[in-house]
Amino acid sequence: MLKSSIDKATGFEKRFENIGTVVYTDSVSGSKAVAKEIADLIKVKASQKQPCILGLATGSSPKGLYAELVRLHKEEGLSFKNVISFNLDEYYPMEPDSVNSYVRFMKELLFNQVDILPENCHVPDGTLSKAEIASYCTDYESKIEALGGIDLQILGIGGNGHIGFNESGSLQNSKTRLVALDHITRVAASSDFLGLNNTPRTAITLGVKMIMEAQRVILMAWGEGKSNIIKQSVEGQVTNLVPASFLQEHDNVTFVLDKEASSKLTRINTPWLVEKIVWTDKLIRKAVLGLAQHLKKPILMLTDADYIENGMSDLLADSGPAYDINIKIFNKLQSTITGWPGGKPNADDSNRPERAEPAKKRVLIFSPHPDDDVISMGGTFKRLQEQGHDVHIGYQTSGNIAVTDDEALRFAGFVCDYNDKFGIKSSEAENIYKKAVTFLENKKGSEIDIPEVRYIKGLIRKGEAHAAAKFIGLQDDHIHFMELPFYETGAIEKKPLGKEDIEITMALIDKVKPHQIYAAGDLADPHGTHKVCLDAIFAAVKALKPKKYMDDCWVWLYRGAWQEWGVDEIEMAVPMSPDQVLDKRHGIFKHQSQKDGVVFLGTDSREFWQRAEDRNKETAEVYHQLGLSHYAAMEAFVRWHF
Ligand code: F6R
Repeated sequence: MLKSSIDKATGFEKRFENIGTVVYTDSVSGSKAVAKEIADLIKVKASQKQPCILGLATGSSPKGLYAELVRLHKEEGLSFKNVISFNLDEYYPMEPDSVNSYVRFMKELLFNQVDILPENCHVPDGTLSKAEIASYCTDYESKIEALGGIDLQILGIGGNGHIGFNESGSLQNSKTRLVALDHITRVAASSDFLGLNNTPRTAITLGVKMIMEAQRVILMAWGEGKSNIIKQSVEGQVTNLVPASFLQEHDNVTFVLDKEASSKLTRINTPWLVEKIVWTDKLIRKAVLGLAQHLKKPILMLTDADYIENGMSDLLADSGPAYDINIKIFNKLQSTITGWPGGKPNADDSNRPERAEPAKKRVLIFSPHPDDDVISMGGTFKRLQEQGHDVHIGYQTSGNIAVTDDEALRFAGFVCDYNDKFGIKSSEAENIYKKAVTFLENKKGSEIDIPEVRYIKGLIRKGEAHAAAKFIGLQDDHIHFMELPFYETGAIEKKPLGKEDIEITMALIDKVKPHQIYAAGDLADPHGTHKVCLDAIFAAVKALKPKKYMDDCWVWLYRGAWQEWGVDEIEMAVPMSPDQVLDKRHGIFKHQSQKDGVVFLGTDSREFWQRAEDRNKETAEVYHQLGLSHYAAMEAFVRWHF
């Protein structure tokens, strides 16, 4: 069985963590460990001639687990003949063969790929009439009980702490039942259903009681987006507002996390509150800035008592008094601020984030989607251009799935009407547009767009990105549309990073030979596109490293639409005046298809320009609160050393 923090706790983790956690470097290794525990259990049960009763989940979290179980079956002969599975939930209403049905999900990812007997696979039925649901749910539970209960229950966790579809407010003794889905849950699912309007409002879920009665529970969570809810569930009060917190009262539960999902746990985020640590410069910076923020004091006002009362007395003893530590951290933070993101010509650059030379730099900004550049670093983008650098922009993907059908119809209709009006004879282009219109007018729910429609949607985004880059002041030959192939599936699910993606990225870098590369390090984007785009850049940069010009190339990572760097991580902060904030807003406004209730807002209902303004303002406020000058807004960057 997985060894969790509590198994080995000598007291300190237990002080904060009421649920055992195991942290893996990434979701792949975490999923493999969970698969191993399941495989061991299946084998033990088989050797005892017993069935193995598994409670299974869907969603993105268990995908790696199912892939590993399939591998164990295909390559290592793991048999599922003695497995009887019960899935947690299903949307209601839902046809089993619909793209978004959990029946289909389970068949594609697991059931059809292993030797489990079809009659042993149970997924709640989304096709029942409302009147049939109550007795169906009672039967579902009776079947589990007749088998002696669930041996091992796999869970994911919703952003609101839901387990199964037991949303906030569910009771600890809740039964299997029809539930209304939370707005947050629907918004999170809306991208799969291509919009909130198509997203079901109800689902059938196993109740909390059955989950709590499982012999063993493993909850898996990956990514920074889950870090807050993991902390609340593991360290917070047991409350029905966070149903996963009920698991604190289960005596055999483990949360399996990757580094990002665990990042807010006290022992990871502020380890000095948990045990004696070795104070590195990075940790000192994090602790002091965190202390100043926690006490809402400027850095230079922190006293010895503040350090002592907040678990930092050993740091004080080593490097104190407080003033000495404060001034060091203050100076360091101050030197991150620069109005010269491309370096200040003829200035002493020993304490500046960027080199002064060469005064005119070649700059290559990579934007994963066509609007990330202006959303995340629109102010810096404009400054670089205005300060005379040779700025290129590379739009990595077409971003076509984020355009609504209405928008595509509007543009396609324009071309068709225009041709009709002026009697322009049918051309190949017009045929494309007519085909797209016919498809869109008859499109069913979340059907995948035909290539003609994707092409039009891509053109819409291209036009917007082009307009925004022109607004910043770029020439056409400095605007590059890369259309990386991994993205072009027409569905949310993308292909893995491929050789061609890396080659296209390398070709652009090689063409520009940049002194600076800007890339999105914004890994919380919900569909993982930013991560693949960043991996493509990392792979390209590494492959190009032997080239002479790469010796002089610095890579800066920005964030923005989905999350911001912590103040302790920031290495370059570019301040903006109120006018520059407005200017940035106008740049973002060029992306009209992404305004006014777009397809993929995620769980944050603010529009992208609002998020960008709020985040940039927040960064400036944090700097101010810490005792530095007060700016209207700031864009933040971290340097990546390759
Ligand atoms: C799925 C389920 C849900 C998900 C949760 C997390 O069967 O019951 O509770 O586990 O919404 O979803 P992902 O894994 O997609 O983040």
